[in-house]
Amino acid sequence: MKPRVLVTRKISENPLNLLRERAEVHIHEEDRPMTAQEIMAALPQKVALLSMGGDPISAKILETGKDLKLVANYAVGFDNIDLAAATRLKIAVTNTPDVLTDTTADLTWALILGVARRVAEGDRFVRAGKWVGWKPGLLLGSDVHGKILGVIGMGRIGLAVAQRALGFNMKIFYADIQRTEQSIEERLQARFLPLPDLLRESDFITLHVPWIPETTHLIGPEELRQMKKSAFLINTSRGPVVDERALVEALKSRVIAGAGLDVFEQEPRVAPELLQMDNVLLLPHIGSATFETREKMAWVAVNNILAGLQGEIPPNILNPEIYK
Ligand code: DGY
Repeated sequence: MKPRVLVTRKISENPLNLLRERAEVHIHEEDRPMTAQEIMAALPQKVALLSMGGDPISAKILETGKDLKLVANYAVGFDNIDLAAATRLKIAVTNTPDVLTDTTADLTWALILGVARRVAEGDRFVRAGKWVGWKPGLLLGSDVHGKILGVIGMGRIGLAVAQRALGFNMKIFYADIQRTEQSIEERLQARFLPLPDLLRESDFITLHVPWIPETTHLIGPEELRQMKKSAFLINTSRGPVVDERALVEALKSRVIAGAGLDVFEQEPRVAPELLQMDNVLLLPHIGSATFETREKMAWVAVNNILAGLQGEIPPNILNPEIYK
């Protein structure tokens, strides 16, 4: 009998077909996330679970998977999984790093350029039939080139975002819990700064940290107050890294100039005030959403499962200590 695998959403066909050759695959076909109850009901007898970034893989869910040996998350972030519980239960957990780095960096730039140059506003303006001709003062935005980019979290995605800034002739500052390699600093001409200095000096501040207890509300009222009035905040990491309430207040009272957000504190809920503001650009968590990258993510997740099914340590293991 083939091992049974639960896949919580439909993913690219080719990797799925390979998985089907080696396992009995049970897919949630509906175009909506599975609820916790549905995952728990479907989990018995499954040895592997291919989960999505938003699936709440709690200790309770993991405990219902009596045969569960592996959770392959189809995302680089894994804050949706109780990793400590998985480790306690000796369930391997994997993610999909690297393949989505450049795609997410590209989208970060779409937000930087989009919010600074009022791209979505311009689109809405044209569609509404409001465009009556060229005007010197129509939809004036802020220059991006030559400005200062503040990168919070110089990991893979932060670095890819910073690299793109060189093409815009920007100065790069970064803050992180540790300093990056000297060769990278030299290549990017990047300066390592304490967070308050970065907040004070940067024109565009972009977040690339994982969501962990230490980064929850990393950007709150105090941090927003430290930013320039002309600065923009960009978030393609995780919603709870920003205190959304404080951000709404800062945007309303023009403490900062604007924000570009791909992630929110209570997805898919967006603070209603944000929906009314023209100085924010809002996207529905699509950082890695390209045909090419989603296919690669599916291959990575499937390969992690196949390695696990063969008794190997999966390539993107997050809790290798379970094998000791
Ligand atoms: C990721 O890969 O972490 C994306 O944000 C999807 O959750």
